[in-house]
Amino acid sequence: MIEYREGNDLDLDAVIDVYRASTLGERRPIEDRHRMAAMLANANLVVTAWDGALLAGIARALTDASWVTYLSDLAVRQSHQRRGIGKELIRRIQQAAGPQAALLLLAAPAAESYYPHLGFTHHPQAWMLRRPPPPLPSNRPPEAPVRRRRRPPARGRPPTWSRGARPSRRCSTSSGSTR
Ligand SMILES: CC(C)(COP(=O)(O)OP(=O)(O)OC[C@H]1O[C@@H](n2cnc3c(N)ncnc32)[C@H](O)[C@@H]1OP(=O)(O)O)[C@@H](O)C(=O)NCCC(=O)NCCS
Repeated sequence: MIEYREGNDLDLDAVIDVYRASTLGERRPIEDRHRMAAMLANANLVVTAWDGALLAGIARALTDASWVTYLSDLAVRQSHQRRGIGKELIRRIQQAAGPQAALLLLAAPAAESYYPHLGFTHHPQAWMLRRPPPPLPSNRPPEAPVRRRRRPPARGRPPTWSRGARPSRRCSTSSGSTR
């Protein structure tokens, strides 16, 4: 029998596991534990489905409990799908948010035909500002490996600086002057 609970005091590994086991993990940052932890901690309405000690499904939402609820994630383990768990998670989210709150979501491609099935209607005036792409590790192209032959310093020549140790003329900050 499936048992339902409300609350976000959950084991992060179990949550990540259900994202992975449902396939939703392919579209969520499950490799970034800090981000997943923040997603869980800052959601103010989370309902989970339990098959004994196994987390079988999760609905993660943000609600003002009056006007609108955003259902940010709905995931049911593939082994537990098509048993009415997703439908019940949504029903409980709606119930907890109260009868005045509309329920909004962004459908994953695989679930596009699921939501009409549950009475959701498509909203042609929905708009979104997409999150910016993650910053690149560096703007510079990777450096080619430098191969140098070590030569003994010739007599009378000025000393050679080792790589990285040469003081920059253009942006010396030690004196605070850039002139
Ligand atoms: C989408 C998902 C949450 C549905 O959960 P579920 O527990 O399998 O769904 P339910 O058993 O509650 O299904 C309810 C009804 O929808 C139907 N249904 C289930 N999945 C469907 C799908 N992908 N497309 C269309 N209808 C679907 C069921 O047959 C059932 O019909 P019925 O009420 O006539 O019997 C689940 O498949 C899942 O986790 N998918 C991967 C992650 C994902 O895409 N999440 C959505 C992110 S927006």
